[in-house]
Amino acid sequence: MDVRSLVRGLPKAELHLHLEGSLEPEMLMRLATRNRVEIPFRSVEEIRAAYRFTELQDFLDIYYQGMNVLRVEEDFYDLTTAYLERAAADGTVHVEVFYDPQGHTTRGVPFSTATDGILAALDDGREKLGITSLLILCILRHLSEDEGFATFREAEPWIADRRIAGLGLDSTEKGHPPGKFQRLFAAAREAGLKLVAHAGEEGPASYVADAVDLLGVDRIDHGNRALEDPVLVRRLSDMGIALTVCPLSNLRLRGVTSLERHPLKRMLDAGLKATVNSDDPSYFGGYLLDNFVAVAEALDLDRPELSTLVRNSIEGSFLDASTRQVHLDRIDRAVAAHG
Ligand code: ADE
Ligand code: ZN
Repeated sequence: MDVRSLVRGLPKAELHLHLEGSLEPEMLMRLATRNRVEIPFRSVEEIRAAYRFTELQDFLDIYYQGMNVLRVEEDFYDLTTAYLERAAADGTVHVEVFYDPQGHTTRGVPFSTATDGILAALDDGREKLGITSLLILCILRHLSEDEGFATFREAEPWIADRRIAGLGLDSTEKGHPPGKFQRLFAAAREAGLKLVAHAGEEGPASYVADAVDLLGVDRIDHGNRALEDPVLVRRLSDMGIALTVCPLSNLRLRGVTSLERHPLKRMLDAGLKATVNSDDPSYFGGYLLDNFVAVAEALDLDRPELSTLVRNSIEGSFLDASTRQVHLDRIDRAVAAHG
């Protein structure tokens, strides 16, 4: 079975993608020159060589340093457009993307610069590439809840206009449990936002339970360590909560020692609504299709399992029910035709 051509031909959604994590070394160099930003690298090769991580924090240090070249609206537009073009080439029809406004406002780049640059590219991607999209504002969990609230208040005009569709929680997981942001997530739900949170990437299963019970999230980002708690697994499965799993990210950040040991198949076997995603593709060595191919080969996933993963990406998305059904029907027809 040619996994790449099978999965490329199926309409898919990507639900876990940090736009700043799609900053390729070539673009980082180009923007550093364009904006006259000093960087500690002289070549694309030097940048790639620096992308060696032993855990999440290692990666985050380089990720926050990399985003320092993003200064004006055009930079955010170019970054987002480059990602959408890659997504279109992979046969992705819908994306729900994250950005980290606090990673920009804390270094003096206005909230509107990042947000409007990204939204302009998402609008053009819809027109020119036919990719639908939603934007999810992520709160940095290593900062305080009050700082999160300040960002949420800044976002209110875009939330009122439905230009920002969701609130997420990312950055350093260990030591920053979901409960730290309970009031903020309650306010976000009140404002009509969809809610997601990174949980169980490095943190314990209890953080996944807290994201569900204390924050009321609609979806869990990663969720790998939920498997350590069978009662929680049963609840997540019964509730139909999607997990946005990121195989190459887990490998590079050493959440798993090899893809052969990746929990994705066990998640499917347990009835969890697992999806495949790329997280920070420029740092972890692959976009969406690369993740599908790598994990399918390592775990020997068959056609029904691949089709379930693709269906889960649509079912786990925040698209309306009728649009979801259109994509699901297309998947069923394409799988039947491919077989
Ligand atoms: N920010 C960008 N990528 C992340 C990840 N994988 N985990 C937590 N925060 C992130
Ligand atoms: Zn992530």
